[in-house]
Amino acid sequence: SSSQAASPAGFLQCLTKANISVFEQGEDLFNTQLDKYIRNPKFLANTTGRPLYVVMPANAHHVQIAVRCGSLNRVPLRVRSGGHDYEGLSYRSVDNEGFAMLDMSELRTVVVDNQTSTAWVESGATLGELYYAISKASNLLGFPAGVCLTVGVGGHFSGGGFGTLMRKHGLAVDNVIDAELVDANGTLLNKTTMGGDVFWAIRGGGGGSFGVVLRWQVRLVTVPATVSVFKVSVSNSQGAAVHAVTKWQKVAPALPDELYIRALVQSDMAVFRAVFLGTCDALLPLVMSRSDGIAELNLSRSNCKEMSWIESVAYVNNATVEDLTKRTTSEFDSSHGFKATTDYVRRAIRREVWAKIFYKQLRQPNAQVILVPYGGKMSNVPEDATPYPHRAGVQYSMQLYNYWPVDSADSGAMGTKWVRDMYAFMAPYVRSGSEPRGAYFNCRDLDLGPDWGPKYFKGNYERLTKAKAEIDPHNYFRNEQSIPLPKRAS
Ligand code: FDA
Repeated sequence: SSSQAASPAGFLQCLTKANISVFEQGEDLFNTQLDKYIRNPKFLANTTGRPLYVVMPANAHHVQIAVRCGSLNRVPLRVRSGGHDYEGLSYRSVDNEGFAMLDMSELRTVVVDNQTSTAWVESGATLGELYYAISKASNLLGFPAGVCLTVGVGGHFSGGGFGTLMRKHGLAVDNVIDAELVDANGTLLNKTTMGGDVFWAIRGGGGGSFGVVLRWQVRLVTVPATVSVFKVSVSNSQGAAVHAVTKWQKVAPALPDELYIRALVQSDMAVFRAVFLGTCDALLPLVMSRSDGIAELNLSRSNCKEMSWIESVAYVNNATVEDLTKRTTSEFDSSHGFKATTDYVRRAIRREVWAKIFYKQLRQPNAQVILVPYGGKMSNVPEDATPYPHRAGVQYSMQLYNYWPVDSADSGAMGTKWVRDMYAFMAPYVRSGSEPRGAYFNCRDLDLGPDWGPKYFKGNYERLTKAKAEIDPHNYFRNEQSIPLPKRAS
């Protein structure tokens, strides 16, 4: 890129002239605005590269001007929508490069069109706000995206987006039909004017690499008036949880697409949470079938609850429907830092290995493994249809997770080490044939090292670098794990 020096003062002046709200380091409100959407509280500590400015656009035009001001003055912009980035790269720089943060939180309008079952959603909206707006328009429409309500649409859609409807309807990006993108020149583009490769790239190729996505048009999906949910905990006192998880991994990816059963595994128990697009009477025989169910869950009619889809969205978050539009996280989430990483499992892991995981690996404070079933629609989307490549053949995804109070004496060193050790432990069990070890971009992990590209995107990585060259040839939008320009053929 340019050899000329950056001019932060010029940037500030450029924004002020356009009446765009901006907070400067050292100013009173700077920390308030910055900290408001830091969703991994371990990054609240003032030890990493903070933005020089927090910029708060109030409309699309402001975003265009902010990008132009940044480009002209060579001040890079990082975009933050919901602030859930696992490594905080939307609001901090590890390599200490000076940058300004563009905070999208004021741009969060959701417009639902009942006639066409579509919606336009701005990137600063949270998933909770999106789901709530859909449910106000119709109780028979829903959208397949993530579980956590405060996740931002901007980052989430950029990297894929999975949740309880994924086995029936795929990822969020599988249901995006148009988008508006501001490129590094400040030009506002739509699906047609950005071109096919770029429209492909922004649907799963990761946020922060191609431009600022202002808003997305999505195809809504039909949900039944009644859905069913259950939560069953299996204690491991007699090894029952080892048994249930071993069974789950064979059964859950092959169940009907309407049924999603997630497992949260800790040393003393496994917790199974399900959402089913249908009634409890239809759900019970599926789960309790001796041949292809998980009778180990001992599910009974009294464990099963029927409700509307939007109530199920709240239920899996232990929240109420009215909570969906609250932009604050729980007391617990705002006081605990975390470290996590992901794997994709292609063949069932042996029972003896699960026993080792339960009795040895998980015997650490706050250590968890979260298992999400694939199959269904996930297997029917070709690997190159979107940049998200983890499709047919994946039985389930696995998240290795540890958390700690932000004020803990070791600042999370032990929890972080646990995730790294567990990742090393899992290596032999997640490899299958020539398949490289995969990872989920939206659970970004800087420990993946310099080969993160093919891990997140497999064979799609190279096409992403070409899309990058098309839309951002000077690499204006960048961070420690953004898509680079293609290597020049020598
Ligand atoms: P944030 O604002 O931090 O942005 C993430 C990245 O995208 C950054 O690189 C940023 O620059 C870029 N970006 C943001 N807005 C952009 C825009 N408008 N245009 C271009 N680039 C933009 N995932 C999942 O699939 N299913 C789930 O159920 C969950 N649940 C979950 C729970 C919790 C507690 C956390 C912390 C995270 C998840 N996630 C998840 C992961 C989540 O999808 C991922 O962290 C998203 O990137 C978060 O998007 P935000 O907008 O909130 O993040």
